[in-house]
Amino acid sequence: MTRYVTPIDVSPLFEPLTIKDRLLRNRIVMPPMVVNRGLATSEGAEWYGRRAQGGVGLVIVEATSVGDFGSTLTADNLRPLVDAVHAGGALIAIQLFPVNRFEPTAPGDLSLAQIDQMIADYRTATQVCAEAGFDGVEPHGAHGYALNQFFSPEMNSRTDEYGGALQNRMRLALRIVEAVRPICDAGGLLLLYRHTPVGYGYGIEDSLALAEELVGAGVDVLDMSPSSVNAPGDRAAPFMALDVPVIAVNELDQVNRALEVLREERASLIAVGRGLIADADWAAKVHALRFGDICECVYCDECFTDLDAGIPVGCTQGE
Ligand SMILES: Cc1cc2nc3c(=O)[nH]c(=O)nc-3n(C[C@H](O)[C@H](O)[C@H](O)COP(=O)(O)O)c2cc1C
Repeated sequence: MTRYVTPIDVSPLFEPLTIKDRLLRNRIVMPPMVVNRGLATSEGAEWYGRRAQGGVGLVIVEATSVGDFGSTLTADNLRPLVDAVHAGGALIAIQLFPVNRFEPTAPGDLSLAQIDQMIADYRTATQVCAEAGFDGVEPHGAHGYALNQFFSPEMNSRTDEYGGALQNRMRLALRIVEAVRPICDAGGLLLLYRHTPVGYGYGIEDSLALAEELVGAGVDVLDMSPSSVNAPGDRAAPFMALDVPVIAVNELDQVNRALEVLREERASLIAVGRGLIADADWAAKVHALRFGDICECVYCDECFTDLDAGIPVGCTQGE
């Protein structure tokens, strides 16, 4: 019996993309995910390297506190991680988190000296990343964490030049970008920025104003999270007007949703998070049209439970 198989053209996912002088072999990004394996460990290098082998174009390593660079994280001890991802054929960037993840700080609690220190720490972190061979860095401005709190009129109670008017609430993000841009230029690193398009007390219009300033200050890629709410990539789409590549994310491991984003030009790249925890070979299997072999994420979010418990993040369905 001949079965009729609905033809599906996955080629938009596998078109290469050049950003500055960096070549991404395809449009698939692994977004930052804290997986509790360490970065300067063989377990961490192996986990990330395995996702690169599975065919993604760009791996963005998990949120990492800028204060850790130059002390617990060095160019030498990060190099095995970088090498493992490069050996798998992917580019590697890393998400830089301004404060210790376990000691959240409200914008109003920080002195001007502490803000200056944070910016200096971003510089040090970027320098270490450049020496370790990373292809990019990404300040974490999303999800209601510190930089996003500065941007949010509801979460930022400051009355100085970092609070109040929109221009002031953008200031920290812009100062960070301006501080790291020359180091990125010197080392040939891409500068990404992760932002939540609609957040506490602000919407797309304010986010577009921020994005415009960020791009003006030298951001090369806008990583919008979450950017799929009603339709896949709907909240990434407005940022495509800014003329830099845009990453969309949220349940785009469903191939038809990912393809819709690219076909409708709502983003230039799609990110697959939990789907790559479930199956490191997601990209390779999609490329080979082996959909039935994919170990699918069921969005049970047990991975978030592992994250919060501080244990190596795993999956109820697969790896
Ligand atoms: C275990 C886990 C850890 C995460 N850690 C981060 C992180 O460090 N930084 C970040 O911006 N987002 C983080 N996220 C969010 C993901 O990057 C992604 O935006 C989210 O999982 C939605 O994509 P998905 O539907 O493909 O999973 C994390 C998600 C998971 C599941």
